Amino acid sequence: MAGKPKVFVSRRIPDAGLNRIREQCDAEIWPEPLPPPYATLKDKVRACDGLVSLLTDKIDPELLDAAPRLKVVSNFAVGFNNIDVPAATSRGIAVGNTPGVLTDATADMAFALLISAARRVVEGHAYSLSGAWKTWEPLGHLGQDLFGRTIGIVGMGRIGQAMAKRCRFGWDMQVLYYDVYKNEKAEKEFGARQVDFDTLLRDSDFVSIHTDLNEKTRGMFNAAAFRQMKRTAVLINSARGPLVDQKALTEALRDGVIFAAGLDVTDPEPPAPDDPLLKLPNVVVAPHIASATVGTRNAMAEICANNLIAGVSGEKLPAWVNPEVEPKRRR
Ligand code: GLV
Repeated sequence: MAGKPKVFVSRRIPDAGLNRIREQCDAEIWPEPLPPPYATLKDKVRACDGLVSLLTDKIDPELLDAAPRLKVVSNFAVGFNNIDVPAATSRGIAVGNTPGVLTDATADMAFALLISAARRVVEGHAYSLSGAWKTWEPLGHLGQDLFGRTIGIVGMGRIGQAMAKRCRFGWDMQVLYYDVYKNEKAEKEFGARQVDFDTLLRDSDFVSIHTDLNEKTRGMFNAAAFRQMKRTAVLINSARGPLVDQKALTEALRDGVIFAAGLDVTDPEPPAPDDPLLKLPNVVVAPHIASATVGTRNAMAEICANNLIAGVSGEKLPAWVNPEVEPKRRR
C-alpha cells in the first residue's frame, strides 16, 4: 500500500485509540457531536481503506458497495447489529468490535438500574426536589426487596455472567437464565439454572436482558411476555432497545402488569420527548451509557484502533467478528 492507509472515524473517540490511528493512518475524524448522515458517511468511505463506526452508523450493503477499497469496519462497541456482517464478509471486509473491556461497566449499570427501579430511587429524588416531601411515611415509596430474590438473566454471555455474579455474591440471589447455549461455568460458579423463556418470566423477581439483537430476539419482550411476569417484577434492559416492544412495556408499566423497568437503551434512541414511556414514574431511563466510564471507553478505543490497524494491514484482528472472511479478504 503506497502511503498511509486512508481511514474515516465517524466520531471523536478517546485519544487512547485516536492517537494511534492518527499516527498510523491518514485519518479523517468526523468532528460533529451528532453522527454523520448516512449519505455523508457513504461519501466519506468511498476512498477509504478502513472505517471506525459507531452503533449509530448503519453499515449496510449499499454503503459497503460505495467503498470498493474498504478492508475493515472497526465498530466502537461490543454490539454490532448496526453492521450487516454477512454483507461485509461476502465483500472480503473484516469487522471488529470491542468485547470484554466493557463487561463490568455494563453489568454495574444494569445493577444500578435494578436497584434504582426496584427501590424507586429516581422517583424519590424527583419527589424530594418537588417540595411534596412533608414527612416520613410508613406506607410511602414502597419498593421491592432485592436481597435473596431471583434474578432471570436473558443471554448468559460475558455481561450476563457479570450481572449474575453481582446478584449471586452481592445480594444472595438465585440465578435463572435463558440462553440457547448451556453455560457450565455460570452453573458451577453462580448456581445458575437454565430454564425456558416462559419459566424465566414466571419465576424471576427481576429480569435482566443481556442478549444480542437479531431477527429472532427483536421484540421478544412483548405484551404476552409481560403478562407472564410477576406483578412485582422489574425489567432491566442494558442490551438493545428493540429487544423490547416499547409500546407494550409502556402499557405494562402503566397498568401495573409489572412493577418497574430500568432501561439504558430504548427504541428509538433517543425516544421522542413526548413518548408516554418518559412520563411514567416507574421507569428509569439512562441515555445508553452502560460503557461510559473513563477507563472503559479508553480501553474500547484501544481495541478499536488495534482492530482498525490490523484490518488495514491485512493482519488478524484482535477482536474479530467475522474471522471466516480471512480466505477472501481484500488486500
Ligand atoms: C454498546 O451498546 C455496545 O454495544 O458497546
